[in-house]
Amino acid sequence: MVAPQDNDRLEVGLQSSQSEERVVPLRLQKFLARAGVASRRGSEDLMTAGRVTVNGVVTTELGAKVDPLVDVVAVDGVPVLVAGAPVYLALHKPSGVVTTMSDPQGRPTVATLVPTDQYPGLFPVGRLDFETTGLLLFTTDGELSHRLLHPRWKVEKSYAVLADGRLDAKDIERLEVGIKLDDGLTAPAKARILDHRATNTLAEITITEGRKRQVRRMFSALSHPVIELHRVRFGPVELGMLGPSSWRHLSADEVTDLRRVTEMGE
Ligand code: URA
Repeated sequence: MVAPQDNDRLEVGLQSSQSEERVVPLRLQKFLARAGVASRRGSEDLMTAGRVTVNGVVTTELGAKVDPLVDVVAVDGVPVLVAGAPVYLALHKPSGVVTTMSDPQGRPTVATLVPTDQYPGLFPVGRLDFETTGLLLFTTDGELSHRLLHPRWKVEKSYAVLADGRLDAKDIERLEVGIKLDDGLTAPAKARILDHRATNTLAEITITEGRKRQVRRMFSALSHPVIELHRVRFGPVELGMLGPSSWRHLSADEVTDLRRVTEMGE
């Protein structure tokens, strides 16, 4: 283990497959978060609970630093494996798939659609309902995921919504001002009508919260229940032309933008 220092040492070019700089050594909680073990705060809790060892020694000191290429870090005795840099993927989630890495009920999960063998520790950033389609981010970076979902950073999520009936300007205003749900008033949203069809309406809504079935509940509150829900954007990342059930790596620019909107630096 490396003694705590004031500044991280920058080591450039260690990650041959990435053009990013790698910080070595790095704080143990940061290492755990990047490995996808928990958020940085959660990792600190694991440390102070005495569940983390470095080279076999319980390490509770929050200033402790490790070199991931040299030190063996374990949580509850299980080694944390990091194959180089954190990984960031976008999946086009199809309908009929649960957002979990394993389902006790045996339903199809998103885990079967992303390369978990290649990237152990990959997990979804938040969730989409069983029926919802569209953009679902995956990462091994616990801290970034934590911030993307935390209300403090108000990261925008945009959805295309096919809703029952004919939405009007008043409905849009209610969505934008805030809808009273059983878990409180929703934060101001952006909404617009894209198309009026015979018996339903195609709309777009952008929200900054991530409550359970939030968009469905908002439209139900307007008496225009959702027929289909499709996420097209998460923060700066767009689904684009990615086909259903396909995944892609995020570009370096997309990762930089995600880090910027969550104030994680570049
Ligand atoms: N809002 C919902 O209601 N469902 C989702 O899957 C995502 C947002």
